[in-house]
Amino acid sequence: MQIKLVQQKRESIKADILIEYFTSQTLKNAEDAKLLERAGFKAEQDSICFLHEKGKLICGVDALDADSLRSASAVAIKALSTSAYKTLTLSLISTETIHALVEGFILGGYQFELYKSKPKDTPVESITLTSQANDFSAQEKIFNESLIVANATCFTRDIVNTAPQELNPETLALLAKKLSDENSLECTILNEAGLKEQNMHAMLAVGRASVHESQLIHLSYKPKNPKKIISLVGKGLTYDSGGLSLKPATSMVTMKMDKAGACAVLGIMKAASELGLDVEIHAFIGAVENMIGGNAYKPDDILVSRSKTTIEVRNTDAEGRLVLADVLDYAQEKVQADYIFDFATLTGACMVALGQYTTGVMGHSNKLKHHFFEAANNSGELVGTLPFNRHLKKLLKSDIADISNTSSKPYGGAITAGLFLDTFIKEDNKEKWLHFDIAGSAYTDTPWDCNVYGGTGAGVRLMSNFLKSL
Ligand code: BES
Ligand code: ZN
Ligand code: ZN
Repeated sequence: MQIKLVQQKRESIKADILIEYFTSQTLKNAEDAKLLERAGFKAEQDSICFLHEKGKLICGVDALDADSLRSASAVAIKALSTSAYKTLTLSLISTETIHALVEGFILGGYQFELYKSKPKDTPVESITLTSQANDFSAQEKIFNESLIVANATCFTRDIVNTAPQELNPETLALLAKKLSDENSLECTILNEAGLKEQNMHAMLAVGRASVHESQLIHLSYKPKNPKKIISLVGKGLTYDSGGLSLKPATSMVTMKMDKAGACAVLGIMKAASELGLDVEIHAFIGAVENMIGGNAYKPDDILVSRSKTTIEVRNTDAEGRLVLADVLDYAQEKVQADYIFDFATLTGACMVALGQYTTGVMGHSNKLKHHFFEAANNSGELVGTLPFNRHLKKLLKSDIADISNTSSKPYGGAITAGLFLDTFIKEDNKEKWLHFDIAGSAYTDTPWDCNVYGGTGAGVRLMSNFLKSL
């Protein structure tokens, strides 16, 4: 599907169907008001009405703002994908909502067909957005940037959706290498021999029972004269069976998505390099498979992490934090960054706390968290903060090692996981670090907003907005 923005009158574009958006207020003055009234169309958000004879698809919105238009466009493109219309056109609503239209159509129309023996033929071939605004070149710039970010989000979704027998730590490293070749990034990969040299025994323990070697992937994007240096850390559990603390059968389904943090970080690298942002960005990914076997790590094991902090394993299903402990330590030593952000499908508890749609943001700097709230605004991603406190931190005490990998109490699990990571953040970096728990937001089995079944690409739009704002 092709999407383009042209500086022309809408009437001059020939297309099978024209899309129009109305609120219940603006509907009254619509050219087709009478016809739509007869059809019972009330312009409710996400309701649509085809006027086939007129060659129009009418979409209802609560307001002509980004969030409403994104969602309505996603509904429209899905409806059109089961119609015979091949070309569509619409005129831009405003400069502020260009990105929302692009996201609605591209992300809402996304389909992952790799494993279908008979892929659906996508009937929509082209979408032409028209504008005659005076600031057309500014609009064009926003349009092109939105397209880069939406495509990077689809790239992230594709990797998340890839089946675990195909996407393992080794193939994830190859995929990262391919991205680095295509986008002129630097790439260093450590296999298990390299991880041993680095004393990354927490990460190594998690991957020990897998037939695939764990990999540490480091990509860097280094423009000339960068304004800031940023480190991104991603949890890349290509499969999380739970290990010996085995997940129940129904909870194990979808655990291919436990690599979504790593995939988000790759998508952000793709977007940032294609946008040509003047920020230096380092991606550090811990790619590991958490399996069972005679050599698997066990509850009761004591691990010596890269930072020398000893960890009592009480649950092998709390593996992401073990991998991140070592990768965060490595990242902090390799790069003196202005900001350190980690993305991880870390806890089921995050979904309990915030719901399935919202990314949990944790860290010490209120200023930085606030900055992300602004970046999230209109991005279509939802964020909520979960506050640290010293009482929760005490629940990670171990009687035999420096720290336990699980909390001694069953509440506040997303925060105690965040506080576990905090143990591995160096004193000088405390205010520079934020942890993003995307356990709920990274994957969905039912469509919402412009998200469809499978990986959502959570983190890519949010982080791209933040990076652009620097
Ligand atoms: N990958 C899971 C978290 C998760 C759960 C992500 C559901 C997405 C959907 C993580 O490794 C895990 O299993 N966490 C445990 C921690 C517990 C053992 C302390 C959890 O959330 O139950
Ligand atoms: Zn787990
Ligand atoms: Zn996990």
